[in-house]
Amino acid sequence: MSKLWGGRFTKETNKLVEEFTASIFFDKKLAAEDIEGSLAHAKMLGECGIIPMEDVEQIVGGLLKIREMAENNEIEFLIEDEDIHMNIEKKLIELIGPVGGKLHTGRSRNDQVATDMHLYLRTKTNELIGLVENVQEAIVDKSKLHIDTLIPGYTHLQRAQPVSFAHHLMAYFWMFERDKERLKDSVKRINWMPLGAGALAGTTFPINRELTAGLLGFETIYPNSMDAVSDRDFILEFLSIGSIIMTHISRLSEELIIWSSQEFRFVELDDSFCTGSSIMPQKKNPDVPELLRGKTGRVYGNLVGLLTVLKGLPLAYNKDLQEDKEGMFDTVETLEGSLKLLAPMIETMKVNGNVMRQALNEDFSNATDIADYLAGKGMPFREAHEVIGKIVLYCIQNNKYLLDLTMDEYRSYSEHFHGDIYKILTPEHVAGARKSYGGTAPGQIQNQIQLAQSLLD
Ligand code: ARG
Repeated sequence: MSKLWGGRFTKETNKLVEEFTASIFFDKKLAAEDIEGSLAHAKMLGECGIIPMEDVEQIVGGLLKIREMAENNEIEFLIEDEDIHMNIEKKLIELIGPVGGKLHTGRSRNDQVATDMHLYLRTKTNELIGLVENVQEAIVDKSKLHIDTLIPGYTHLQRAQPVSFAHHLMAYFWMFERDKERLKDSVKRINWMPLGAGALAGTTFPINRELTAGLLGFETIYPNSMDAVSDRDFILEFLSIGSIIMTHISRLSEELIIWSSQEFRFVELDDSFCTGSSIMPQKKNPDVPELLRGKTGRVYGNLVGLLTVLKGLPLAYNKDLQEDKEGMFDTVETLEGSLKLLAPMIETMKVNGNVMRQALNEDFSNATDIADYLAGKGMPFREAHEVIGKIVLYCIQNNKYLLDLTMDEYRSYSEHFHGDIYKILTPEHVAGARKSYGGTAPGQIQNQIQLAQSLLD
Protein backbone atom coordinates (compact mmCIF):
# COMPACT_ATOMS: atom_id res chain seq x y z
CA MET A 1 0.00 0.00 0.00
CA SER A 2 1.33 3.45 -0.84
CA LYS A 3 0.94 6.70 1.08
CA LEU A 4 -2.32 7.32 2.93
CA TRP A 5 -2.37 10.75 1.27
CA GLY A 6 -1.03 9.57 -2.12
CA GLY A 7 -4.06 10.36 -4.30
CA ARG A 8 -3.05 13.85 -5.33
CA PHE A 9 0.53 12.97 -6.14
CA THR A 10 2.14 11.87 -9.41
CA LYS A 11 5.63 11.14 -8.06
CA GLU A 12 7.21 9.09 -5.30
CA THR A 13 8.48 11.12 -2.35
CA ASN A 14 12.20 11.83 -2.46
CA LYS A 15 13.94 9.50 0.04
CA LEU A 16 15.72 12.41 1.72
CA VAL A 17 12.41 14.20 2.15
CA GLU A 18 10.89 11.10 3.65
CA GLU A 19 13.68 10.86 6.18
CA PHE A 20 13.71 14.56 6.88
CA THR A 21 9.98 14.88 7.51
CA ALA A 22 9.42 11.61 9.34
CA SER A 23 8.86 11.73 13.08
CA ILE A 24 8.38 8.02 13.65
CA PHE A 25 11.90 7.73 15.13
CA PHE A 26 10.70 9.57 18.19
CA ASP A 27 6.89 9.77 18.13
CA LYS A 28 6.62 5.99 18.35
CA LYS A 29 6.71 6.78 22.08
CA LEU A 30 3.11 7.97 21.62
CA ALA A 31 1.80 4.60 20.38
CA ALA A 32 -0.26 3.87 23.49
CA GLU A 33 -1.77 7.37 23.56
CA ASP A 34 -2.49 7.29 19.84
CA ILE A 35 -4.41 4.04 20.19
CA GLU A 36 -6.26 5.31 23.26
CA GLY A 37 -7.38 8.41 21.34
CA SER A 38 -8.40 6.31 18.32
CA LEU A 39 -10.43 3.92 20.46
CA ALA A 40 -12.40 6.82 21.91
CA HIS A 41 -12.84 8.44 18.50
CA ALA A 42 -14.07 5.18 16.90
CA LYS A 43 -16.57 4.56 19.70
CA MET A 44 -17.88 8.09 19.38
CA LEU A 45 -18.26 7.70 15.59
CA GLY A 46 -20.36 4.58 16.24
CA GLU A 47 -22.46 6.16 19.02
CA CYS A 48 -23.24 9.14 16.81
CA GLY A 49 -24.25 6.89 13.91
CA ILE A 50 -21.46 8.28 11.73
CA ILE A 51 -20.14 4.80 10.99
CA PRO A 52 -21.93 1.46 11.61
CA MET A 53 -21.40 -0.23 14.97
CA GLU A 54 -20.13 -3.42 13.36
CA ASP A 55 -17.36 -1.38 11.72
CA VAL A 56 -16.53 0.14 15.08
CA GLU A 57 -16.23 -3.33 16.54
CA GLN A 58 -13.77 -4.33 13.87
CA ILE A 59 -11.78 -1.14 14.29
CA VAL A 60 -11.67 -1.54 18.06
CA GLY A 61 -10.59 -5.18 17.68
CA GLY A 62 -7.83 -4.17 15.28
CA LEU A 63 -6.62 -1.33 17.52
CA LEU A 64 -6.50 -3.63 20.55
CA LYS A 65 -4.48 -6.11 18.54
CA ILE A 66 -2.07 -3.35 17.48
CA ARG A 67 -1.76 -2.24 21.08
CA GLU A 68 -0.78 -5.73 22.11
CA MET A 69 1.69 -6.00 19.25
CA ALA A 70 3.19 -2.61 20.12
CA GLU A 71 3.59 -3.63 23.75
CA ASN A 72 5.48 -6.73 22.63
CA ASN A 73 7.59 -4.74 20.19
CA GLU A 74 6.12 -6.72 17.33
CA ILE A 75 5.37 -3.79 15.04
CA GLU A 76 7.91 -2.63 12.55
CA PHE A 77 7.42 1.09 12.20
CA LEU A 78 8.25 2.43 8.75
CA ILE A 79 9.82 5.73 7.73
CA GLU A 80 7.64 5.72 4.60
CA ASP A 81 4.64 6.00 6.88
CA GLU A 82 6.11 9.13 8.42
CA ASP A 83 4.68 9.21 11.91
CA ILE A 84 3.04 7.12 14.59
CA HIS A 85 -0.47 8.11 13.46
CA MET A 86 -0.09 6.89 9.89
CA ASN A 87 1.93 3.85 10.90
CA ILE A 88 -0.88 2.72 13.16
CA GLU A 89 -3.63 3.57 10.71
CA LYS A 90 -1.86 1.65 7.96
CA LYS A 91 -1.32 -1.31 10.25
CA LEU A 92 -5.03 -1.23 11.06
CA ILE A 93 -6.02 -1.33 7.41
CA GLU A 94 -3.52 -4.14 6.87
CA LEU A 95 -5.10 -6.10 9.73
CA ILE A 96 -8.84 -5.54 9.19
CA GLY A 97 -9.03 -4.37 5.59
CA PRO A 98 -10.53 -1.20 4.03
CA VAL A 99 -12.99 -0.74 6.91
CA GLY A 100 -9.95 0.45 8.91
CA GLY A 101 -9.98 3.46 6.63
CA LYS A 102 -13.18 4.64 8.34
CA LEU A 103 -11.34 5.45 11.57
CA HIS A 104 -10.07 8.77 10.26
CA THR A 105 -13.63 10.02 9.55
CA GLY A 106 -14.15 13.46 11.09
CA ARG A 107 -10.58 13.61 12.35
CA SER A 108 -7.25 15.02 11.24
CA ARG A 109 -3.72 14.21 12.29
CA ASN A 110 -3.66 17.75 13.61
CA ASP A 111 -6.22 17.21 16.34
CA GLN A 112 -4.99 13.63 16.72
CA VAL A 113 -1.36 14.51 17.47
CA ALA A 114 -2.32 17.28 19.86
CA THR A 115 -4.59 14.84 21.70
CA ASP A 116 -1.79 12.29 21.96
CA MET A 117 0.54 14.88 23.46
CA HIS A 118 -2.05 15.93 26.03
CA LEU A 119 -2.60 12.31 27.05
CA TYR A 120 1.13 11.60 27.26
CA LEU A 121 1.94 14.68 29.31
CA ARG A 122 -0.93 14.07 31.71
CA THR A 123 0.40 10.62 32.58
CA LYS A 124 3.99 11.83 32.86
CA THR A 125 3.11 14.89 34.92
CA ASN A 126 1.27 12.73 37.44
CA GLU A 127 4.22 10.34 37.63
CA LEU A 128 6.64 13.24 38.12
CA ILE A 129 4.55 14.58 40.99
CA GLY A 130 5.17 11.24 42.74
CA LEU A 131 8.91 11.42 42.05
CA VAL A 132 9.14 14.96 43.44
CA GLU A 133 7.36 13.70 46.52
CA ASN A 134 9.95 10.94 46.99
CA VAL A 135 12.67 13.58 47.05
CA GLN A 136 10.68 15.58 49.59
CA GLU A 137 10.34 12.50 51.77
CA ALA A 138 14.10 11.92 51.67
CA ILE A 139 14.63 15.55 52.69
CA VAL A 140 12.21 15.33 55.60
CA ASP A 141 13.72 12.05 56.83
CA LYS A 142 17.25 13.48 56.76
CA SER A 143 16.14 16.75 58.34
CA LYS A 144 14.48 15.00 61.27
CA LEU A 145 17.88 13.58 62.23
CA HIS A 146 19.63 16.96 62.10
CA ILE A 147 17.48 19.53 63.85
CA ASP A 148 20.29 20.07 66.37
CA THR A 149 23.16 19.81 63.89
CA LEU A 150 24.53 23.29 63.35
CA ILE A 151 26.15 24.49 60.15
CA PRO A 152 27.39 27.92 59.11
CA GLY A 153 24.69 29.70 57.14
CA TYR A 154 26.09 31.78 54.28
CA THR A 155 25.29 34.89 52.35
CA HIS A 156 27.64 35.79 49.48
CA LEU A 157 29.24 32.43 50.33
CA GLN A 158 30.65 34.20 53.41
CA ARG A 159 29.82 32.93 56.88
CA ALA A 160 26.72 34.78 58.03
CA GLN A 161 24.83 33.17 60.93
CA PRO A 162 24.70 29.60 62.22
CA VAL A 163 21.67 27.59 61.16
CA SER A 164 20.44 24.10 61.72
CA PHE A 165 21.42 21.66 58.97
CA ALA A 166 17.77 20.56 58.94
CA HIS A 167 16.74 24.15 58.32
CA HIS A 168 19.09 24.43 55.37
CA LEU A 169 17.90 21.15 53.88
CA MET A 170 14.23 21.92 54.46
CA ALA A 171 14.58 25.05 52.34
CA TYR A 172 14.69 22.63 49.40
CA PHE A 173 11.57 20.86 50.60
CA TRP A 174 9.60 24.06 50.05
CA MET A 175 11.08 24.63 46.61
CA PHE A 176 9.95 21.16 45.61
CA GLU A 177 6.58 21.77 47.25
CA ARG A 178 6.00 24.74 44.94
CA ASP A 179 7.20 22.65 41.99
CA LYS A 180 4.63 20.03 42.89
CA GLU A 181 1.92 22.68 43.07
CA ARG A 182 2.95 23.99 39.68
CA LEU A 183 2.81 20.49 38.17
CA LYS A 184 -0.61 19.85 39.69
CA ASP A 185 -1.91 23.17 38.47
CA SER A 186 -0.62 22.54 34.95
CA VAL A 187 -2.75 19.40 34.73
CA LYS A 188 -5.81 21.69 34.56
CA ARG A 189 -4.64 22.94 31.19
CA ILE A 190 -3.24 19.61 30.01
CA ASN A 191 -6.81 18.43 30.56
CA TRP A 192 -8.17 20.47 27.64
CA MET A 193 -9.11 18.19 24.73
CA PRO A 194 -8.24 19.11 21.13
CA LEU A 195 -9.87 16.03 19.56
CA GLY A 196 -12.77 16.97 17.30
CA ALA A 197 -11.13 20.16 16.06
CA GLY A 198 -10.40 18.45 12.74
CA ALA A 199 -7.63 19.89 10.62
CA LEU A 200 -8.36 23.41 11.88
CA ALA A 201 -11.98 24.39 11.30
CA GLY A 202 -14.02 21.61 12.87
CA THR A 203 -15.81 18.87 10.94
CA THR A 204 -18.95 18.41 8.88
CA PHE A 205 -19.79 15.18 10.71
CA PRO A 206 -22.19 15.32 13.68
CA ILE A 207 -19.52 14.34 16.21
CA ASN A 208 -19.95 14.43 19.98
CA ARG A 209 -16.90 15.91 21.66
CA GLU A 210 -18.34 15.55 25.16
CA LEU A 211 -18.43 11.84 24.59
CA THR A 212 -14.78 11.51 23.57
CA ALA A 213 -13.74 13.89 26.36
CA GLY A 214 -15.54 11.64 28.86
CA LEU A 215 -13.90 8.52 27.48
CA LEU A 216 -10.45 10.07 27.59
CA GLY A 217 -10.89 11.76 30.96
CA PHE A 218 -10.55 15.33 29.67
CA GLU A 219 -12.16 18.06 31.74
CA THR A 220 -12.40 20.83 29.18
CA ILE A 221 -12.87 20.87 25.41
CA TYR A 222 -11.00 23.55 23.47
CA PRO A 223 -13.79 25.93 22.49
CA ASN A 224 -11.88 27.05 19.38
CA SER A 225 -10.76 24.47 16.83
CA MET A 226 -7.93 26.64 15.50
CA ASP A 227 -6.52 27.13 18.99
CA ALA A 228 -6.96 23.41 19.68
CA VAL A 229 -4.66 22.28 16.87
CA SER A 230 -2.01 24.98 17.27
CA ASP A 231 -1.77 25.29 21.03
CA ARG A 232 1.43 24.03 22.57
CA ASP A 233 1.23 26.20 25.72
CA PHE A 234 0.71 23.12 27.81
CA ILE A 235 4.10 21.82 26.65
CA LEU A 236 5.76 25.20 27.18
CA GLU A 237 4.34 25.22 30.66
CA PHE A 238 5.67 21.76 31.32
CA LEU A 239 9.13 22.74 30.05
CA SER A 240 9.06 25.88 32.21
CA ILE A 241 8.14 23.92 35.29
CA GLY A 242 10.76 21.34 34.37
CA SER A 243 13.34 24.10 34.10
CA ILE A 244 12.43 25.43 37.54
CA ILE A 245 12.65 21.93 39.01
CA MET A 246 16.07 21.48 37.44
CA THR A 247 17.15 24.85 38.86
CA HIS A 248 16.30 23.59 42.31
CA ILE A 249 18.04 20.27 41.72
CA SER A 250 21.06 22.11 40.38
CA ARG A 251 21.33 24.48 43.35
CA LEU A 252 21.14 21.58 45.79
CA SER A 253 23.67 19.64 43.71
CA GLU A 254 26.04 22.58 43.76
CA GLU A 255 25.86 22.71 47.55
CA LEU A 256 26.49 18.99 47.84
CA ILE A 257 29.52 19.33 45.58
CA ILE A 258 30.92 22.20 47.65
CA TRP A 259 30.14 20.46 50.94
CA SER A 260 31.87 17.27 49.76
CA SER A 261 35.10 19.10 48.94
CA GLN A 262 38.20 18.67 51.11
CA GLU A 263 37.86 22.34 52.06
CA PHE A 264 34.41 21.84 53.59
CA ARG A 265 34.01 18.12 54.38
CA PHE A 266 30.48 18.90 55.68
CA VAL A 267 28.98 15.85 53.96
CA GLU A 268 30.23 12.71 52.35
CA LEU A 269 28.25 11.20 49.52
CA ASP A 270 27.92 7.45 49.66
CA ASP A 271 30.51 5.45 47.70
CA SER A 272 27.69 3.99 45.65
CA PHE A 273 26.86 7.49 44.37
CA CYS A 274 30.40 8.54 43.43
CA THR A 275 32.96 7.52 40.87
CA GLY A 276 36.75 7.44 40.78
CA SER A 277 39.48 8.82 38.57
CA SER A 278 41.29 6.76 35.95
CA ILE A 279 44.61 8.29 36.96
CA MET A 280 44.40 9.73 40.49
CA PRO A 281 43.85 6.86 42.90
CA GLN A 282 42.74 9.05 45.81
CA LYS A 283 39.82 10.64 43.96
CA LYS A 284 36.17 10.18 44.87
CA ASN A 285 34.23 12.44 42.55
CA PRO A 286 30.67 13.72 43.03
CA ASP A 287 29.75 12.89 39.43
CA VAL A 288 26.06 12.47 40.15
CA PRO A 289 25.40 15.99 41.49
CA GLU A 290 27.71 17.37 38.83
CA LEU A 291 25.67 15.70 36.10
CA LEU A 292 22.43 16.83 37.70
CA ARG A 293 23.78 20.38 37.58
CA GLY A 294 24.93 19.83 34.01
CA LYS A 295 21.70 18.31 32.75
CA THR A 296 19.90 21.47 33.79
CA GLY A 297 21.33 23.02 30.63
CA ARG A 298 19.55 20.68 28.25
CA VAL A 299 16.21 21.22 29.95
CA TYR A 300 16.57 25.01 29.65
CA GLY A 301 17.57 24.40 26.04
CA ASN A 302 14.39 22.43 25.40
CA LEU A 303 12.30 25.29 26.79
CA VAL A 304 14.03 27.96 24.73
CA GLY A 305 13.89 25.65 21.70
CA LEU A 306 10.12 25.31 21.77
CA LEU A 307 9.55 28.98 22.62
CA THR A 308 11.55 29.77 19.51
CA VAL A 309 9.60 27.28 17.37
CA LEU A 310 6.31 28.87 18.43
CA LYS A 311 7.36 32.48 18.17
CA GLY A 312 5.86 34.01 15.04
CA LEU A 313 4.16 30.79 13.95
CA PRO A 314 0.92 31.62 12.11
CA LEU A 315 -2.30 29.72 12.79
CA ALA A 316 -3.13 26.93 12.55
CA TYR A 317 -1.08 23.73 12.20
CA ASN A 318 2.38 24.05 10.69
CA LYS A 319 4.89 21.25 10.35
CA ASP A 320 7.19 23.22 12.65
CA LEU A 321 5.00 21.93 15.45
CA GLN A 322 6.45 18.46 15.00
CA GLU A 323 9.54 19.91 16.69
CA ASP A 324 7.59 20.00 19.96
CA LYS A 325 8.25 16.37 20.75
CA GLU A 326 11.90 15.53 21.24
CA GLY A 327 12.49 18.30 23.76
CA MET A 328 9.42 17.23 25.68
CA PHE A 329 10.45 13.57 25.76
CA ASP A 330 13.99 14.52 26.70
CA THR A 331 12.76 16.75 29.52
CA VAL A 332 10.48 14.05 30.87
CA GLU A 333 13.31 11.52 30.82
CA THR A 334 15.85 13.92 32.31
CA LEU A 335 13.50 14.83 35.14
CA GLU A 336 12.65 11.19 35.82
CA GLY A 337 16.31 10.17 35.92
CA SER A 338 17.35 13.15 38.04
CA LEU A 339 14.60 12.89 40.63
CA LYS A 340 15.09 9.12 40.93
CA LEU A 341 18.77 9.62 41.77
CA LEU A 342 18.36 12.59 44.04
CA ALA A 343 16.19 10.86 46.65
CA PRO A 344 18.56 7.95 47.47
CA MET A 345 21.60 10.22 47.20
CA ILE A 346 20.19 12.38 49.98
CA GLU A 347 19.15 9.34 52.00
CA THR A 348 22.60 7.74 51.89
CA MET A 349 24.82 10.78 52.33
CA LYS A 350 26.77 11.06 55.54
CA VAL A 351 26.48 14.33 57.44
CA ASN A 352 29.66 15.36 59.28
CA GLY A 353 28.00 17.24 62.10
CA ASN A 354 31.27 17.60 64.03
CA VAL A 355 33.04 19.25 61.13
CA MET A 356 30.13 21.67 60.66
CA ARG A 357 30.10 22.49 64.38
CA GLN A 358 33.90 22.93 64.50
CA ALA A 359 33.65 25.43 61.65
CA LEU A 360 31.42 27.59 63.83
CA ASN A 361 34.16 27.89 66.48
CA GLU A 362 36.30 29.66 63.94
CA ASP A 363 34.13 32.41 62.55
CA PHE A 364 32.24 35.56 63.42
CA SER A 365 28.80 34.24 62.62
CA ASN A 366 27.71 35.21 66.15
CA ALA A 367 28.50 38.90 65.60
CA THR A 368 24.90 39.92 64.86
CA ASP A 369 23.94 38.61 68.26
CA ILE A 370 26.20 40.92 70.24
CA ALA A 371 24.90 43.79 68.17
CA ASP A 372 21.37 42.64 69.11
CA TYR A 373 22.60 42.39 72.73
CA LEU A 374 23.68 46.02 72.82
CA ALA A 375 20.54 47.09 70.96
CA GLY A 376 18.55 45.24 73.62
CA LYS A 377 20.25 47.41 76.25
CA GLY A 378 18.94 50.51 74.52
CA MET A 379 21.80 51.38 72.16
CA PRO A 380 20.51 52.26 68.66
CA PHE A 381 21.18 49.23 66.42
CA ARG A 382 23.27 51.27 63.96
CA GLU A 383 25.57 52.35 66.79
CA ALA A 384 25.77 48.79 68.14
CA HIS A 385 26.66 47.58 64.62
CA GLU A 386 29.56 50.07 64.54
CA VAL A 387 30.86 49.02 67.96
CA ILE A 388 30.78 45.32 67.08
CA GLY A 389 32.45 46.01 63.76
CA LYS A 390 35.33 47.53 65.73
CA ILE A 391 35.43 44.52 68.05
CA VAL A 392 35.55 42.12 65.08
CA LEU A 393 38.38 44.13 63.55
CA TYR A 394 40.25 44.00 66.89
CA CYS A 395 39.74 40.20 66.96
CA ILE A 396 41.04 39.76 63.43
CA GLN A 397 44.10 41.87 64.20
CA ASN A 398 44.76 39.86 67.37
CA ASN A 399 43.92 36.43 66.02
CA LYS A 400 40.94 35.91 68.32
CA TYR A 401 37.25 35.07 68.05
CA LEU A 402 34.42 36.77 69.92
CA LEU A 403 34.23 34.06 72.58
CA ASP A 404 37.98 34.48 73.33
CA LEU A 405 37.73 38.11 74.47
CA THR A 406 37.94 38.88 78.18
CA MET A 407 35.28 40.87 80.02
CA ASP A 408 37.76 43.77 80.30
CA GLU A 409 38.26 43.76 76.57
CA TYR A 410 34.49 43.87 76.05
CA ARG A 411 33.94 46.60 78.59
CA SER A 412 36.59 48.76 76.97
CA TYR A 413 34.08 49.05 74.08
CA SER A 414 30.88 49.49 76.12
CA GLU A 415 29.87 49.34 79.75
CA HIS A 416 26.66 47.55 78.65
CA PHE A 417 28.60 44.26 78.40
CA HIS A 418 28.15 41.70 81.17
CA GLY A 419 29.12 38.07 81.76
CA ASP A 420 25.93 36.74 80.11
CA ILE A 421 27.33 37.47 76.64
CA TYR A 422 29.47 34.32 76.73
CA LYS A 423 26.35 32.20 76.82
CA ILE A 424 24.60 34.33 74.23
CA LEU A 425 27.46 33.94 71.79
CA THR A 426 27.51 30.14 71.55
CA PRO A 427 26.28 28.90 68.15
CA GLU A 428 23.59 26.87 69.94
CA HIS A 429 22.23 29.98 71.56
CA VAL A 430 22.57 32.07 68.42
CA ALA A 431 20.57 29.59 66.35
CA GLY A 432 18.16 28.77 69.16
CA ALA A 433 17.31 32.43 69.67
CA ARG A 434 15.84 32.76 66.17
CA LYS A 435 12.39 31.75 67.24
CA SER A 436 10.48 33.95 64.83
CA TYR A 437 8.07 32.08 62.52
CA GLY A 438 10.11 30.22 59.92
CA GLY A 439 13.36 30.83 61.83
CA THR A 440 16.10 28.33 62.59
CA ALA A 441 15.28 27.70 66.30
CA PRO A 442 14.62 23.98 66.95
CA GLY A 443 10.95 24.57 67.84
CA GLN A 444 10.35 26.39 64.58
CA ILE A 445 12.05 23.65 62.60
CA GLN A 446 9.91 21.06 64.34
CA ASN A 447 6.78 22.97 63.34
CA GLN A 448 8.08 23.28 59.81
CA ILE A 449 8.79 19.56 59.55
CA GLN A 450 5.37 18.79 60.97
CA LEU A 451 3.72 20.99 58.36
CA ALA A 452 5.83 19.36 55.65
CA GLN A 453 4.88 15.91 56.87
CA SER A 454 1.19 16.79 56.81
CA LEU A 455 1.54 17.93 53.20
CA LEU A 456 3.09 14.61 52.26
CA ASP A 457 0.51 12.40 54.01
N1 ARG B 1 3.88 14.08 12.79
C1 ARG B 1 3.07 15.24 12.82
C2 ARG B 1 3.43 16.07 14.04
O1 ARG B 1 4.00 15.54 14.92
C3 ARG B 1 1.62 14.90 12.91
C4 ARG B 1 0.68 15.92 12.37
C5 ARG B 1 0.90 16.04 10.92
N2 ARG B 1 -0.06 16.87 10.31
C6 ARG B 1 0.11 17.34 9.08
N3 ARG B 1 -0.81 18.08 8.61
N4 ARG B 1 1.21 17.09 8.41
O2 ARG B 1 3.18 17.24 14.10
